Amino acid sequence: MNFTQDDADKLLKIIKARRDVRGNRFIPKPIENEKLQMILEAGISAPSVGYSQPWKFVVITDTNIKNELAQNFEQENAKAKEIFQTRELYKNLKLEGIKEAPINIAVLYEPTEQEVLGMTSMKKMGEYSVVCAVQNMWLMARALNIGIGWVSILDEKKVLESLQTKRDTQLIAYLCVGYVDKFYEESELKTLGWKSKKLLEESVVYQTSSTLG
Ligand SMILES: Cc1cc2nc3c(=O)[nH]c(=O)nc-3n(C[C@H](O)[C@H](O)[C@H](O)COP(=O)(O)O)c2cc1C
Repeated sequence: MNFTQDDADKLLKIIKARRDVRGNRFIPKPIENEKLQMILEAGISAPSVGYSQPWKFVVITDTNIKNELAQNFEQENAKAKEIFQTRELYKNLKLEGIKEAPINIAVLYEPTEQEVLGMTSMKKMGEYSVVCAVQNMWLMARALNIGIGWVSILDEKKVLESLQTKRDTQLIAYLCVGYVDKFYEESELKTLGWKSKKLLEESVVYQTSSTLG
């Protein structure tokens, strides 16, 4: 299959329009099952080391579990507020949308006992593969005008207990998924003055022979 320049332009447009969405933007509109399936399909279409596909997606709509997770976040965020106490802004930031989002998805890494092709030297490649799945889901959701917010201010062990996962499972991402009233044009943390955007030239180094030695 050959794509056109127009397809590439659209893809970049979606990539640039993707935002992290928090509870201040989610609306209660339910997500159609076909759209949820497209997001999950995007997840399982990600590359994975040795084609290991070491992911598991737990789709959560149960209010009790969401409440447990929201409590978990509150406890961890109370500790984070202490860490950032010199930056007054932190305590006013909305950093999750667990209860507001109609669907939460826990994205898990389930390691296998067998040796994995490509993971014999660098041991974290399994986890990185699951991160690729998360990014695919985030972009597909954005293409469907659905927001996703990644919540990482959580006690991982307690999350895994809440979800009754099997031994050795790791939590890679806890995602809040839902329709939004609007998508911000740029990162909310940039707009609020938490961090500025790195320029392309700050992020890229061209290693040519003339720059060596
Ligand atoms: C690994 C990872 C963990 C993140 N954890 C959180 C989080 O716990 N809470 C939050 O509000 N945003 C979280 N984010 C979202 C980032 O803050 C966000 O991606 C960044 O500010 C850039 O904004 P944008 O995604 O809207 O462009 C996380 C993002 C990544 C990639």
